[in-house]
Amino acid sequence: MKHFLDVSDYSPAEIQDMLDLAVRLKAEYFAGGNQPLFKGKVLGLIFQKPSLRTRVSFDMAMRHMGGDALYLSPNEIGLGKRESIADIARVMSGYVQAMMARVFDHAHVVELAKWSAVPVINGLSDYSHPCQAMADALTIIEKFGAMKGLNVTYVGDGNNVAVSLMHIAVMLGANFTIANPEGYDMPAPALEIGTRLASGGAKITYLRDPFAAVKDAHVIYTDTWTSMGQEEETAKREAVFPPYQVNQKLVSAARKDVIVMHCLPAHRNHELTDDVADGEHSVIFPQAHNRLHAQKAVLARLFEVA
Ligand code: CP
Ligand code: NVA
Repeated sequence: MKHFLDVSDYSPAEIQDMLDLAVRLKAEYFAGGNQPLFKGKVLGLIFQKPSLRTRVSFDMAMRHMGGDALYLSPNEIGLGKRESIADIARVMSGYVQAMMARVFDHAHVVELAKWSAVPVINGLSDYSHPCQAMADALTIIEKFGAMKGLNVTYVGDGNNVAVSLMHIAVMLGANFTIANPEGYDMPAPALEIGTRLASGGAKITYLRDPFAAVKDAHVIYTDTWTSMGQEEETAKREAVFPPYQVNQKLVSAARKDVIVMHCLPAHRNHELTDDVADGEHSVIFPQAHNRLHAQKAVLARLFEVA
């Protein structure tokens, strides 16, 4: 049985297949609705952190396809506190047909998957955000036709979103460039995986200068400077990251047809200025909406129904 913990657990062909399915399911949804392929299936949604997009898009994905979802808030389940993760996994496996978990510690979603008899989906951990990466790739493909040969630039913290974006970009043949301040690099193991995945010809470039990084970029991507769980570092980070703000000046240094992406929630006029977020290059809302369609495809593959 397969889980969906990281895009790098899959082959490029499997990721492309899920993205192709997402395109078909999206078209089907807008042409009158999806087939009830998830009938009789319930997805358990386990959250240790807040969420808008992940919670609502997974719930709606299940409903649109004839299934159901059950939301479990941080206060209810007490992952690893009230009860061990191994026990929760084995109990939940008898109630639901798949689980999505948003956790602080990546090891906890891995542990959940280890003990679960049903597929487990990583709905964001401190290490990665694979569901976001699927929606990001879908959005980029909709705009440019394919990922191959594109220049995808991430400006900001080398966080969970950056890691998954790097992995999916190079898996699908895009060059990935990141510019971030010293001390906020992506974790070395993530970079090693990225380098291995990029062996197909894509390039990974690590820079400090955001202007050099966005030169020739088809995509400029940013995310919050302070991720959930890092709140006590906010003041320190707010002092370091301003040169990495995605603003009109930075966007003007990229290609004319560049798209600006952000996984949201955005901290407007911090990592992303209002004029860019709401400007002609921004795809932040279609990107958020694509969570729904990309996750339907992931679920369909895990349920083996499409
Ligand atoms: N992008 C994203 O995962 O948003 P939420 O935190 O609102 O789920
Ligand atoms: N990097 C952010 C993403 C939120 C969707 C966080 O982990 O808080």
